[in-house]
Parts: sequence; C-alpha cells; structure tokens
Amino acid sequence: MVIAFATREKMKNRIHSIAPSILAADFACLGEEVEAVLAAGADLIHFDVMDNHYVPNLSMGPMVCKSLRTYGIDAPIDVHLMASPVDNLVVSFAQAGASHITFHPEASQHIDRTLDLIHENGCKAGIALNPATPLNCLEYLWQKLDLILVMSVNPGFGGQKFIPAVVDKIATIRKLIDIHNSHTLLAVDGGINLDNYIDLVKLGVDILVVGSAIFNYRGKYQSIISKMKQSLTE
Ligand code: DX5
Ligand code: ZN
Repeated sequence: MVIAFATREKMKNRIHSIAPSILAADFACLGEEVEAVLAAGADLIHFDVMDNHYVPNLSMGPMVCKSLRTYGIDAPIDVHLMASPVDNLVVSFAQAGASHITFHPEASQHIDRTLDLIHENGCKAGIALNPATPLNCLEYLWQKLDLILVMSVNPGFGGQKFIPAVVDKIATIRKLIDIHNSHTLLAVDGGINLDNYIDLVKLGVDILVVGSAIFNYRGKYQSIISKMKQSLTE
C-alpha cells in the first residue's frame, strides 16, 4: 500500500534529538554539566522552570539561563515554563537567551496571545500537555505551534516513573501533526530512560527530554546519549 510505504519511509528517515533536562544536573557546576552533555552529543538543552504555584516545586529563573549564555553555551535552550502567569516570563526568558519557550495551556489566560508573544520575542513556541490534558486545545493553533511537549509524568519533579497511558496520546498527536502537515515537532518529557526510549522513537517522537537517566550517571553521558540517538535503522 502506497500510504503505508510512505509512512514507513518517513519513519525510516526520521532523526530524533536528545534534550537533557538540566533539572537533574549538578547545579554547583551547571555550566560544565551543560558543556559535558553537549560534547556528548546532546542537541538542545531542556530548562525546567518551576514556580511553587503552578507546580509544587521551585527551580530556576531567567538569571540562570542568562548565566549559561554568558558562560558560552550557544546550543538551543528550550525553556519549559511550569509557571503561572506565563507572559511576563516569556519576555524575561527571551531576553535571557531562550531559543524555545514552552508553556502549559492551563497556565495562560490566552493561549493564542501567548504563542504570538513568544514569536514576537524571537523564540520558537511550544505547548506542554500534562498527562490528563485533552488535545482539543491544539485545534486552531497548528500554524503557530513549533513544538508540542507531551508530559509523560505530572510536572514538578524529576526522576518520576513514565506513565504508560500517555503512549496512546503520543501516537494520536503524531498522527495529528502528520495530518495537518505541520512543521510542529513532537517532544516527550518525563521518565525516559534506556529501557523505554526506543518505544518512543518507534512512535515517531522528534525530541526525547531526558533528565535523571543522563545526569545521574556522571562519566557516562557520551555512551548514554549516543545509545539514545541511535535511529531505528542503525
Ligand atoms: C518534570 C520536568 C522534566 C523532568 C525530566 O516536571 O518537566 O523535564 O526534569 O526528568 P526525568 O527524565 O528525570 O523524568
Ligand atoms: Zn520539562
């Protein structure tokens, strides 16, 4: 069948990226940790922002992002805002050197306006979907979505277990992106490790966000990241 073949060909050629989540890094030497994962083959840096309001934890603000840029990190930084309100942080993080800004729809009063604000500030824009967030918020936004970040844990903490029910959701979003012929990248965040990453690659995920399964193994970043970057055909 022509359609099945085309899909297989597409899958075969799909190259996925690895985005280490620095929430699990050693904050006492954050610049060196980021350098180390980039040298080990990471494609972009995932920067988790928690505000003790939208999620029950507190992490980093724009100053830390700026410090990484000043330190010399020039790789893309995807700022994952688990924070409310969103819009003032969009401007601060864009000024601090973010390349992508991803937010949770529940945290914004006006999702379409926030997406525009991110673009106006020169960044790629993403939406993060919690495990229980339905997909209807994606409707009417396809042209503006550079990234969909599917949460495979409830946001707020690193080192949690992957929620298997999210697999169906990932598969559905993959189909929706392809149906809309959209440029949108599909990322998955939470509980990804060497035992389950390949299942996500098979589902057509573009970006794997990985925290503890990388940073908990100092000295092994290269072997872990190169294994996770292997495509289906290798
Ligand atoms: C969860 C964060 C994730 C987390 C991933 O709230 O958004 O990015 O740090 O870490 P692991 O891979 O340890 O689940
Ligand atoms: Zn995250």
